[in-house]
Order: sequence, then structure tokens, then C-alpha cells
Amino acid sequence: MIQPVILCGGSGTRLWPRSRVSRPKPFVPLVGELTLFEAALDRVADRQVFAPPIVVAGPQHVSFIEAQAGHIDGLRIIVEPVGRNTAPAIALAASILAPGTIMLVCPSDHHIADKAAFIHAAQSGAVLAGDSWLVAIGVKADRPETGYGYIRIGEPLGAGASGSPQDGPCHMIDRFVEKPDAARAAEFLADGGYCWNAGIFVFGAGAYLESLAHNRPDMAQNARLSLGDAQGGNSRGESRQEGRPQGRSALIHPDSTQFSSITGESVDYAVMENAEKAAVVVADMGWSDIGNWRALRDARTDGGGGNSVTGTADLIGCRNVMVDSDGPRVSVVGLDDIIVVVDGNDILVVSASAAQDVGKLPGAAGA
Ligand code: GDD
Ligand code: MG
Repeated sequence: MIQPVILCGGSGTRLWPRSRVSRPKPFVPLVGELTLFEAALDRVADRQVFAPPIVVAGPQHVSFIEAQAGHIDGLRIIVEPVGRNTAPAIALAASILAPGTIMLVCPSDHHIADKAAFIHAAQSGAVLAGDSWLVAIGVKADRPETGYGYIRIGEPLGAGASGSPQDGPCHMIDRFVEKPDAARAAEFLADGGYCWNAGIFVFGAGAYLESLAHNRPDMAQNARLSLGDAQGGNSRGESRQEGRPQGRSALIHPDSTQFSSITGESVDYAVMENAEKAAVVVADMGWSDIGNWRALRDARTDGGGGNSVTGTADLIGCRNVMVDSDGPRVSVVGLDDIIVVVDGNDILVVSASAAQDVGKLPGAAGA
């Protein structure tokens, strides 16, 4: 049984005005009918393969999580008193699990078009994680993106879950480089031997904590201590856990002073760049981290280009224009590569090539 651990942090201000501080990106339907968080839950809904998920999130996310996942039997929510990035968040989950548990660590804000390919990659990763490899799921790199981790693919690692031969998707990681600068990203792309880190990991709980304790001992110790002595490192996860009579989820509250004392760092820097036994499963699963409106437009058109309309709009002589309006009719004539979003009283018009800058708008920082 694989234990999903779903991470919710940040607010996704680059997708303003649909996503905002008061209604963060994972909890808004952006691609299809499900929210990205609901889609993340749906990918791990098969109880033959996956245990009920653990969600690690901030207090500002709990009401959204309960509204969208409260019906899931056995759901546990670890409520971080403050955000300290992904390495400590994963450490909290690992600390309430038995050391042999295989965790599938997933972001809550990605789009994955091919669920079966995702599950297959997770299962391949679980086989390796069972042998104490720290596993990243990799995806093909197709541009010199500086916001991602790059993985240099090493020697093949046997068959994986598919029984695929030597040239299958499982490889040792030669080198893991988180968020390189533009020149190095271009170099890695040209090299051809690198893939992107999708931000999805498969770890044995014990192997993860051991690696963290080796590389960032304070972080591992404080995360464990924040859960209380009774809980740190054991398999029960019962103390400081609030049953929810009206729902079926249980809330776990780490100690605020202890957890706040941790210096925040992502799993990519704290663990993966330093891991001695790291592997990658390369998956072709239609992955996008929906980092900005351009990525969302591409996900909505399945990467095939063309116009995309949600709500009411008239487009004449437009190419690759996306309109998403929650009410007013939007009319666009003779424009290319433009995104128009209407959300209540807020209207965004942005050229696709500048989509990364939307988070800098004063409106995006507001509630
Ligand atoms: N619970 C919790 N607490 N979750 C967090 C926190 C935190 O403090 N910080 C971030 N998260 C969640 C985010 O909501 C997201 O779902 C996931 O963890 C990854 O964090 P991001 O902040 O989005 O990371 P990133 O996009 O900069 O980089 C990561 O993802 C890339 C792919 O999208 C890295 O893993 C890169 O290597 C990777 O390429
Ligand atoms: Mg991200």
C-alpha cells in the first residue's frame, strides 16, 4: 500500500484573479471540473493501491481541504503553524508513519492528463523506494525553464513495476540541480541527458528521515519534536490529533514554537541535491505545474494551440487567445497570444509571453 502525502502551500498569485490569497490555486477549478487539489486526490483514490491520504497544509487551507476532501474516510490533515517549505512538511508526514511506509509525495497544484501513467510511475517508484532509493518522478524537459529542478539521468535500474527492460523508465540520478540559472538550464537542455523534476517523490518514510537527519539534522529533529515525543518516529500518529465528529478527517497540530524554529528549505535542496541513493522514474503523463496563465492555456488546449474559451466570448481573427470569464461577454478581435480573465470586478489582460509577471500586479497581492 502506498501512502499519499499531498502538500498545500503558497497561494498561486501568478494565476490572479482566479487564484488569490483568499482562494488559493489548488482549490479553484482550473482545468476541467475538478479543482487541482480534487484531481490530486482522485489520482490516488484507488484504495487497492493507495492508503487514505495525508494532507500537509497551512491553517488557511484547512477549510478548503475539509470542503473538498472531508468525505474521504481516514483522511489526515497535518496543519503547519507556519510554512517552512517542503522538506519540513514532508518530515512531519514521515514522522507519523512507520519507517517502512512508502510515501508518494505530491503537490496539490499540478495538472496530469494521463492518470494511468502517473499511477504506473508511482508504482515503479514504490518498488525502488522499497529498496531505500529516494525517488523523483521525472518528465521530459522541452525548454530552458529556470523554475524547475533538473535531473541528470544515470544508469538504468532494472525492470520497475512494468517489467520493462533495461531501457525502462527507472534510472539512478547522476546529478540533481534545483533551479539552475538560465545559462545552465540551456546547457542541460542542449545536453539531452537531463529531465525535469516533476516535484513528485516516492520515499520510504524511514529513508527520507535518515537522509534529512544526515543532511539537515536540526530540521529533522525539530520536525519530529514538534509532533511531541509520543509521536515522533513512531507509527501511531495519535497524540495531538483531533478527531472530527462531524467529518471523517483528523487534524494533527505540530507544536508552533518547535516547528517555527526550523529554517525553511525545499526537499530539492535539502535532500535531493545531496542524496546518495537517488533514482528517477521518467514518466510521460501529460504533466504541467500550471505555473502561470500561459501554462493553463496550454493545458486547456492539450498543448495543441488554438483558442480556448470558458464562459461567454466572441473571438474574430484571433490565434492562441484564451478567454475565461465568470460573467461578462468578452469580445476579442484580431489578437494573437493574449489571455483575458474576468473574475467579478477584476479583469486581467496579459500577453502569453508575459504571463510570468502577473504575480507582480498589486491586485495579485491582495485578498
Ligand atoms: N505543506 C506545505 N508547506 N506545502 C508546501 C510548502 C510548505 O511550506 N511550500 C510549498 N508547498 C507545496 C506547494 O503548494 C506545491 O504543491 C509543492 O509543495 C511544491 O512547492 P513549490 O513552491 O510549488 O515548488 P516549486 O514549483 O518552486 O519547485 C518544485 O516543483 C517543480 C515542479 O513544479 C521543485 O520540486 C522543482 O524541482 C520542480 O521542478
Ligand atoms: Mg510549484
